[in-house]
Amino acid sequence: MIISTNIQQTREIISPYRSSGKTIGLVPTMGALHEGHLSLIRWCRRECDYTVVSIFVNPTQFAPSEDFASYPRPIEADYSACRQLNVDLVFAPTAKEMYPGENITWIEVEKLSEHLCGASRPGHFRGVCTIVAKLFHIIQPDIAYFGQKDAQQLAVISRMVADLNFPVQIRPCPTVREPDGLAMSSRNRYLTPKQRQQGLCLGQALQQASRLFAAGQRDSHVIIEQIRPIIENHPEAQIDYISIVDNELCQPITVIDRPALLALAVRIGQTRLIDNIVLDPTEQNS
Ligand code: PAJ
Repeated sequence: MIISTNIQQTREIISPYRSSGKTIGLVPTMGALHEGHLSLIRWCRRECDYTVVSIFVNPTQFAPSEDFASYPRPIEADYSACRQLNVDLVFAPTAKEMYPGENITWIEVEKLSEHLCGASRPGHFRGVCTIVAKLFHIIQPDIAYFGQKDAQQLAVISRMVADLNFPVQIRPCPTVREPDGLAMSSRNRYLTPKQRQQGLCLGQALQQASRLFAAGQRDSHVIIEQIRPIIENHPEAQIDYISIVDNELCQPITVIDRPALLALAVRIGQTRLIDNIVLDPTEQNS
């Protein structure tokens, strides 16, 4: 496995593989790798000839009040996890390498960024899209892997790629959960054991919503109000949002008459957790 921190060197390492017709796969991450990330890497290994993992805690997607400084950076453990999965190349640039001066060029995906995390984290998706576009330009992958865990991010990036004709296929991958239902996240390590227990309420709320939906409930308001107490029951849990939005533009819908996303963000103490499920009325048996 090669580790590169340099953009030019990275281009030179990948170039011969692309020239010889190999399929290049990219898994963009901010490190602190867990089973969710590793599942993306495994998909990439299965489907591509050459697997690149990027590890970069991107400052431009964090607001000044957020956890950029304290975000976990266990880089040696991340390298060894990648090595174990036979990753071909890890691209782990410094902030200076990615943003050598003041950055004044940004990619913004309108509409899709208005609600959910876009509303509670202004500027977040602008930072995400800009760094992902830069990574796409540096690595030039054929396929890039993103988790459904960050459903709005996946939707925003898919739209950016479509609108700007990036020559890359976006491959969505299912959310990986702990055995007790907690969606894996690099931020889970901030939780105390007691908070972690309370964090289970996100998955429980989604499960209840899924049951209501399966029983025929299509009114967004009813579903949201029925699952709200599951979260509010927990003393340290503070709801940021519970929303049902359409799959295409991530706009709130009142009746679930087309594929929709039920997304939630909940603060447990200082830690903000997100999770979601798809509610699809076109699916059989739903
Ligand atoms: P990060 O939070 O490190 O996540 C990297 C990728 O792993 C994302 O595509 C995310 O959706 C996926 N992922 C995280 N937890 C997952 C889980 N439990 N199951 C499945 N996939 C999961 O998302 C980012 O980094 C950044 O915004 C990035 C795209 C790298 C741009 O900086």
